[in-house]
Amino acid sequence: MDLEGKRVALGVTGGIAAYKAAELCRLLVKQGASVRVAMSEAAMRFVTPTTFQALSGNPVFTDRWDAGVANGMAHIDFSREAEVLLIAPATADFLAKVANGIADDLLTTLTLARDCPLLVAPAMNRQMWSNPATQRNIATLTGDAVGILGPASGEQACGEIGEGRMLEPAEIVEDVAAHFQPKRLKGRKLLMTAGPTFEAIDPVRGITNLSSGKMGFAIARAARDAGAEVTLVCGPVALPTPRGVTRIDITSALEMHAQVMPRATAHEVFIGVAAVADYRPSKVSEHKTKKDDNPSPVIELAQNPDILADVAALPQPPLCVGFAAETRNLAEYAEKKRRAKKIPLLVGNLIQDGFGGDTNTWILFDDDGQHALEPASKLTLARRLIARIATLLENPHAPH
Ligand code: CTP
Repeated sequence: MDLEGKRVALGVTGGIAAYKAAELCRLLVKQGASVRVAMSEAAMRFVTPTTFQALSGNPVFTDRWDAGVANGMAHIDFSREAEVLLIAPATADFLAKVANGIADDLLTTLTLARDCPLLVAPAMNRQMWSNPATQRNIATLTGDAVGILGPASGEQACGEIGEGRMLEPAEIVEDVAAHFQPKRLKGRKLLMTAGPTFEAIDPVRGITNLSSGKMGFAIARAARDAGAEVTLVCGPVALPTPRGVTRIDITSALEMHAQVMPRATAHEVFIGVAAVADYRPSKVSEHKTKKDDNPSPVIELAQNPDILADVAALPQPPLCVGFAAETRNLAEYAEKKRRAKKIPLLVGNLIQDGFGGDTNTWILFDDDGQHALEPASKLTLARRLIARIATLLENPHAPH
């Protein structure tokens, strides 16, 4: 769970997106966070405190003058117990007040009285969002180190289309998790490959490798969360691009090679996660081949370039990280691959341990030897890998 043990204070203001805050609260709890909710009066016109009480398992603050709070200072205690204060949705009016230090109700008061970081997820009509007054307030809040999550573009409750929608609850949870990640790759550029490649035989057939792309996408997200500028060159996968990551879609190994090579030296890290097809058909038929024309065809194969090895062989290569998915003799094959490709770090895993699923078991191979990681979710492992890469960037000979 990505927010295990984190204490999140969730403030809900009165916009139509308040109904989504209930799902947000549920997802935060599901990720392991302990959540305390405070609502503005207007928020209670959209959702009831009972909903948040049931979802968070905690009493909900709704009143600045709550006599049930021992010292009568709920507005001060509320965020003191939290590691982050998240306001979602945050209306234009709320943002304006916070930007100007106004504290005239429960939520604005506890926001002013906080001693933890503040994240806000704006939600409003597109005109309200683009209004210079709102933009001025957002600039002020950004200057005050407030994290602005979104907003997204799209269809709005009022029927208009534009920027101002609240991010989806799952995206907000992702951003809250990112907030807690150390920014160890801040200012670093990271290039990576992910997914399978597809090598055409004819216009409708081809050779490919099994790869969901999930591991690569989790690594892209973990690198982004650590502050890196991430470019992801990926084969055909049905996964949404992590926000903020530059994605380049390719089909074949040759296309992947052509996209990676000119970019490689401009990056400090290269991670080859893709399951690149080692071979491609020597000839691609222009038309669909017919079985009547050739009852037992033979496909001649040509070897594809090894992208990872080619990047590692550049005169000034980035820090190169490779993967080896094996069905047996993991330690032997993985270390052989690492040496053959001349890369400092390689992640080995046994295919039968979680291929296509959400968890994996990894062994890291480097100059120090091998280091087994506890089985964990792909995102957790991705964060560990990014931490190891950050250490190697800071000190190339750091022991594990
Ligand atoms: N790789 C690459 N380009 C290729 C093949 C592999 O960049 N043409 C990268 C993969 O992204 C991965 C690592 O190299 O990081 C895998 O190494 P490789 O030896 O190619 O693995 P397999 O294809 O599984 O090799 P083998 O069939 O020998 O096991």
